Amino acid sequence: MLFQALSTVLLAATGAFAAQGQLQQVTNFGSNPTGVEMFVYKPAKLASPPPLIIAMHYCTGTAQAYFSGTQYANLADTHGYIVIYPDAPDPGGCWDVHTNATLTHNAGGDSLAIASMVRYAIQNYGVDATRVFATGTSSGAMMTNVLMGAYPDLFQAGSAFSGVPYGCFEGPDMWNSQCATGELIKTPQQWGDLVRSGYPGYTGARPKFQFWHGTADTTLYPQNFWEDIKQWTNVFGVSQTPVTNTTNDPLPGYSRASFGPNVQAILAQGVGHTVPEQANDVLNWFGIANLTPGSGPAPPTSVPPSSVPPSSSSTVAPPPSSTGAAHWDQCGGIGWTGATTCASPFTCQVINAYYSQCL
Ligand SMILES: *[C@@H]1O[C@H](CO)[C@@H](O)[C@H](O)[C@H]1NC(C)=O
Ligand SMILES: *[C@@H]1O[C@H](CO)[C@@H](O)[C@H](O)[C@H]1NC(C)=O
Repeated sequence: MLFQALSTVLLAATGAFAAQGQLQQVTNFGSNPTGVEMFVYKPAKLASPPPLIIAMHYCTGTAQAYFSGTQYANLADTHGYIVIYPDAPDPGGCWDVHTNATLTHNAGGDSLAIASMVRYAIQNYGVDATRVFATGTSSGAMMTNVLMGAYPDLFQAGSAFSGVPYGCFEGPDMWNSQCATGELIKTPQQWGDLVRSGYPGYTGARPKFQFWHGTADTTLYPQNFWEDIKQWTNVFGVSQTPVTNTTNDPLPGYSRASFGPNVQAILAQGVGHTVPEQANDVLNWFGIANLTPGSGPAPPTSVPPSSVPPSSSSTVAPPPSSTGAAHWDQCGGIGWTGATTCASPFTCQVINAYYSQCL
């Protein structure tokens, strides 16, 4: 009843399911030369240990706007991960994705502040250092690219909505028109070398990376999608030809090209700037779509990427059974390592190549 009443009110206010808790600002989180602000969302029930998602806003955006305008906090209530929403110091609200400092490991810029937040969360919130992720929209997507390049040691995966390759905005100004209009063309080797220059000498694993782009984007032209493919296939040493490319995935008109387990490129036909965030799909890519808080009974689980959320009046789930995944849980798909059977009376049904669900 309470959930129902709450969601009705919040749905009316935001047009989406909203988180139960509030954002909290944290100061003195470590090295922060440019004055980035840190806001954290910690759900009441945490997974043990909790993963961390860094969720980054678009130009003119704020931490608060990205908190209330996306589903990551709402889904944190269900899955028990922590979300940090950094807030850019630039008066225009864009991230610094162009300075040499921000592009380089531990050299300064906005990226260092975000790295400090990750380190702070690992030390102070018990965050699982092997499950730290970054996502963002537009300028936040560009910063996701920057973090993948400059801090490969801190992140295990990224998902960028309508961004540009790592290093594409490099130069004296906050805005780089040549890159934005898709006229900055490099070879795969050159793009890959740029990434490798972000953390010279680094030989460890690199975060797997998913990026989304609309074919009708006239802010950051879709050529950036193809340059991104060159860059990250080079970084992972895989072919630029997709291994698979599934159409109408996860939405009609979208195609999901996979270049092996580490690179996934989703092109949204006819979609402009920006591609709307697909939070459940992102959690699936991060490998935490089936996560539950550490103790107590399993809460209602996630909505699959390709279906509509159940309405608040029909969220009463049947009691969990002792064997198999629960109603709505993921039960299969490429890269899935969790349970593949469903608790009675549900059966595991294929939604798409990446997502099967107990229905
Ligand atoms: C940053 O500047 C140094 C020194 O000029 C250069 O060697 C390095 O490649 C630059 N890094 C990036 C990511 O462009
Ligand atoms: C995947 O297939 C779609 C539909 O044919 C096509 O438009 C898109 O360019 C393909 N993606 C890649 C990365 O080749």
